[in-house]
Amino acid sequence: MNILGLSAGFHDAAISVVSRDGNILFAGHSERYSKLKNDEHISPDLLSEIVGYDIDTIAYYEKPWKKQLRRLYSGEGVQWDRLTTFQCVKKELGKTFYLLENKLQFDPDFNGLPVYSFDHHMSHAAAGFQTSSFDRATVVVIDAIGEWDTISIYGAEYNRHGFATYKKLWSQKYPHSIGLFYSAMTERVGLKPNEDEYILMGMSAYGRTGYTASLQDFLIENEWEATFKHNLHIGTDNLFMKDVHDADIAVAAQKTAEKLIYNVMRRARDFKWSENLVYMGGVALNCLANRTLGEYFENIWIMPNPGDAGSSLGAAALQYGRRLNWVNAYLGHNIPGAYPVTPVLDSLLSDGICGVASGRAEFGPRALGNRSLLADPRGPDIKDRVNEIKRRQKFRPFAPVVLEELADQYFDFSPGWNTSRYMQSVARCRNPELFPAICHVDGTSRVHTVPADGSGIRQLLEKWFLMTDCPMLLNTSLNIKGEPMVNDRADADRFEKKYNVKVFS
Ligand SMILES: [Fe+2]
Repeated sequence: MNILGLSAGFHDAAISVVSRDGNILFAGHSERYSKLKNDEHISPDLLSEIVGYDIDTIAYYEKPWKKQLRRLYSGEGVQWDRLTTFQCVKKELGKTFYLLENKLQFDPDFNGLPVYSFDHHMSHAAAGFQTSSFDRATVVVIDAIGEWDTISIYGAEYNRHGFATYKKLWSQKYPHSIGLFYSAMTERVGLKPNEDEYILMGMSAYGRTGYTASLQDFLIENEWEATFKHNLHIGTDNLFMKDVHDADIAVAAQKTAEKLIYNVMRRARDFKWSENLVYMGGVALNCLANRTLGEYFENIWIMPNPGDAGSSLGAAALQYGRRLNWVNAYLGHNIPGAYPVTPVLDSLLSDGICGVASGRAEFGPRALGNRSLLADPRGPDIKDRVNEIKRRQKFRPFAPVVLEELADQYFDFSPGWNTSRYMQSVARCRNPELFPAICHVDGTSRVHTVPADGSGIRQLLEKWFLMTDCPMLLNTSLNIKGEPMVNDRADADRFEKKYNVKVFS
């Protein structure tokens, strides 16, 4: 019997299945099946992946009535059909059961099937702590908005029976929100909030630094408490910083976010609960801000899917109660067969670029080698060639995937980040002139280090290193412009046809 974790109804809908002995059997994003980026609803095709898993309990990632109360307060309006957990779950799953003609092995009316829900930030916290290797940790959650809490600090540990316990140490509440601030600034420069925050972060390397103080004067009420003078849920006044270049706004936004995040980290450290940090929530995806977290904590764990999609796993973890058996992020749709090491190697040596769609899809926003477009990172031309395919802003660099034991020779990691197995932090590139495609203009790279874990990408890197003396590859997500990451072989075939680039399985 298994637990189904569910995160849906706002953005990035996802499901996770956890067994009663703590194994993560499946975790996947709805968008990869419906092809709608950040799809808020559960796709029938996603649910069809878990037919046969024998679900006995459903765990929902937030408390609907609390969220509706906040919506009432914020003037967004109450969604009367989403007041209870049962309504929310039924809304997401009920129609799907009907569409699938009840092929799934649980009752379409949930008769006798228990449905539980947990606080939004608790689901974030559990997705982090219960996948970490820590017995005790300080958990920091920073996101845009769930129910009321926007920043939370917990003291987490396992009791003598092995159950995870969480003590809330501090929180900040709506409308004061670092995540809403960053999304408002994303919108302010013409990008899409809740989606393009990473582009704003990348853009910040190009701006001038003179505007941070005036931005903070205008917006921040109390930087230690992370409170704001304006409700940024409704965006920023466009007259504000009217004649300032977008990249300069991006710098000011990034610097301000970092100042607020580091204040939270300082506060969290000062509780002296633990030297281990678990950091979750959408803001934990800001890998540029993450680079200095080692100044506050000795050991850091950011689960590779720290946003709301990852909370499907968090809700299931809370229902399960104990530590999960975390192995890696390859938890989604399976494209069967051995990793295509030899054909990829041959293709990279002859043409310098190719795709891979093999094994289980990554749970989280980063391609980690199973749904990746890979390229030889050496030389000045490769960035333009990959950009030709990706058709994205030319200023954005690509990420390197590197043999972990050699990463230090090529990248200067900040304290606390000896590895970056899920691309959670940036490191300074030691030889930007040799690898311009994977170094940003500020000299940093979003590094993915691969340990000797026998994974397909590891085997590929080892052979690539033997043949070229280069321990890294350029790695970017395999997706058609405007679409989510490739999920199945049919998506890979469409990619091949569209871009005339071979994708191996
Ligand atoms: Fe959240």
